Amino acid sequence: MTTKLDEPTLGALEERALRRPGTFGEHALVACDSLVRIYQSEGIEVQALQGLDLLVDAGELVAIVGASGSGKSTLLAVLSGLDAPTAGRVRVGDWDLMAMSARQRVDYRRSMVGFVWQQTARNLVPYLTAAENVDLPMALAGVRRKERATRTADLLAMLGVASCADRRPGQLSGGQQQRVAIAVGLANRPQVLFADEPTGELDTATSADVLDGLRTINRELGTTVVVVTHDAGVSEHVQRTVAIRDGRTSSEVVRTTRTHEDGTEHTVAEEFAVLDRAGRVQLPQEYRETLDLVGRVRLALEDSHISLWPDRPRAATPTVPDEETTR
Ligand SMILES: Nc1ncnc2c1ncn2[C@@H]1O[C@H](COP(=O)(O)OP(=O)(O)O)[C@@H](O)[C@H]1O
Ligand SMILES: [Mg+2]
Repeated sequence: MTTKLDEPTLGALEERALRRPGTFGEHALVACDSLVRIYQSEGIEVQALQGLDLLVDAGELVAIVGASGSGKSTLLAVLSGLDAPTAGRVRVGDWDLMAMSARQRVDYRRSMVGFVWQQTARNLVPYLTAAENVDLPMALAGVRRKERATRTADLLAMLGVASCADRRPGQLSGGQQQRVAIAVGLANRPQVLFADEPTGELDTATSADVLDGLRTINRELGTTVVVVTHDAGVSEHVQRTVAIRDGRTSSEVVRTTRTHEDGTEHTVAEEFAVLDRAGRVQLPQEYRETLDLVGRVRLALEDSHISLWPDRPRAATPTVPDEETTR
């Protein structure tokens, strides 16, 4: 009972994948390559990121969805230059985040990226009005007053909160605060906006407004947006959703709009598993349970796909792989 598993072995495949030259995600705007982040606290080691790969192209709006504790905030802290990974490579535009000096880090945070955090209070200065909040990062960057005023008005209008310009955060609803926060994040024209659970403290209807705001700025300004959330429902609002589990990307949902012959449009959502750089893929729990897959499994390379079996004889059906087995 020999299988094609003998050549090439999994170990050899993994080695080959790791040996590929370092051009991973060359054309992507954001490239995370085998990111690892280990926290040590009181002698306990937590692996928040366990070899995470992620590519985001310029102009994309991507949602990263994962349960609480899956490593989303850790990832965004790394991408925003607040935290350094334990291992792996991470690049945003021309910035190699593993090799930035303290000064470059400040530059990067001021010019390349913008942020929106879950806690509304972390995004806005409470004693400044909405317009003053948007104005502040531009004033710090030395932008002229007139240009600042125009940019502030444009951004607040684009996000549907022009009427809130003269109000302080305390006088705004949660959704309005987050839309103002998006404007603040965009004030200095960053190429990427990172948002960590921006709708985490909002109800469904208000969340939709905030997501709509992110879609609008992505479309109108071309800003690349990476939004992180535990709410799987967000995938309905974005083109690409990346699922993260245990500090790794595990699957992706891509939505495309297709046009019927009669001219009507419909959206198709397709789910993909994600193969990482080392050749690892996560099998959905549902599949594992259905076939009772645990521990060792058998793999066989077919013409156009790979088959996978449980490692035990199956009495009822003769599906143990041999030369001519098809699905
Ligand atoms: N500063 C820290 N010290 C120790 N463990 C941490 C720290 N920050 C996060 N963790 C742990 O890392 C894992 C991922 O956390 P996090 O990135 O915050 O996940 P998420 O944002 O998806 O909820 C969790 O197990 C969390 O407890
Ligand atoms: Mg978090």
